[in-house]
Amino acid sequence: MNSRILGTGSYVPDRILTNADLEKMVETSDSWIVERTGIRERRLVGPGEACSDLATKAAEKALAQAGLQASQLDLIIVGTCTGDSPLPSTACLVQQRIGATRAAAFDLNAACCGFVYALALANSYVKTGLRYVLVIGAEVMSSITDWTDRNTCVLFGDGAGAVVVGKSEGEDGILSIHLHGDGDHAELIQVPGGGSRIPASEDTLNAKLQFVKMKGNETFKVAVKTMEDSVNEVLTFNHVSTDDVDVFVPHQANIRILKAVAQRLKFPLEKTVVNLDRFGNTSAASIPLALDEAVLAGRVRQGNLVLLAAFGAGLTWASGLIRW
Ligand code: ACO
Repeated sequence: MNSRILGTGSYVPDRILTNADLEKMVETSDSWIVERTGIRERRLVGPGEACSDLATKAAEKALAQAGLQASQLDLIIVGTCTGDSPLPSTACLVQQRIGATRAAAFDLNAACCGFVYALALANSYVKTGLRYVLVIGAEVMSSITDWTDRNTCVLFGDGAGAVVVGKSEGEDGILSIHLHGDGDHAELIQVPGGGSRIPASEDTLNAKLQFVKMKGNETFKVAVKTMEDSVNEVLTFNHVSTDDVDVFVPHQANIRILKAVAQRLKFPLEKTVVNLDRFGNTSAASIPLALDEAVLAGRVRQGNLVLLAAFGAGLTWASGLIRW
């Protein structure tokens, strides 16, 4: 028995920050950002808006598309590294907001891989007896972005995407998901302060340790290699080739990473869903946001083979294959 995605939904905040806006904030240019990343603009939360607000709106759309009530959910998993606060979990806040009175709820942090990791759990839970699992990827990356650091502030955006996972009656659904991690590369992307190693203090705030630090160039190389390896892994496992894939929904970090991966895999870029030009890197939200857009645009049709691949801080990387 497979599990399958019964509905998708997404939400991005209204506020748009363009590259021209960033030119006024740090020493950068629209042409540098577009050439080096492909990003033209990103969405940012407004005052008082937090991760659970975005997650709730995406969740409600996914439930509506699935034709389900929140009270039917057994479990809610939110993939995020920028939850409303360390306690309680953002998933519990969503559970209360949507009225999922029967659902257990927890957050999962695998950085940009959060959604694919959470989808893997949902797949297992449905296969072992749960009926409906809500999986959300939601991030307010702007809350951990140093808006004076041009190396990182041009990259990230805020948003949320959600799917409802339930039983499949046929051969369709999630075929397999493959997860990986490697703490040897933990220093490539990190938020050094605010946790138990370096608790928040006046000193950590002055040193800006609450913000994401990234070795962009090294991350880029590892990203291309891990994306290529994980795509090959999921295709080989399912005895299919890149030719069999109808739609590729990758993590949206940098258009040059996606082009390099497509070239190495000899995969036509036209089959790849790209929305990073409008949203930047929304971490765990990026794949469900792109997937929902592709579904609504009619790019993902029944019977299609849909490939997912992500990488992120940890390092973590992951891939999945779905018969839609
Ligand atoms: N505007 C203008 N110049 C800039 C900017 C900017 N915004 N940012 C960096 N530069 C400069 C650098 O200072 C450097 O100048 P120097 O040569 O004088 O030192 C020059 O541009 C080149 O810098 P690189 O870092 O080598 O640029 P690169 O081509 O690698 O692009 C980038 C940087 C876009 C960050 C790229 O490395 C990248 O996308 N890396 C992957 C990031 C990623 O995918 N992260 C995903 C995980 S995020 C998560 O998990 C939460």
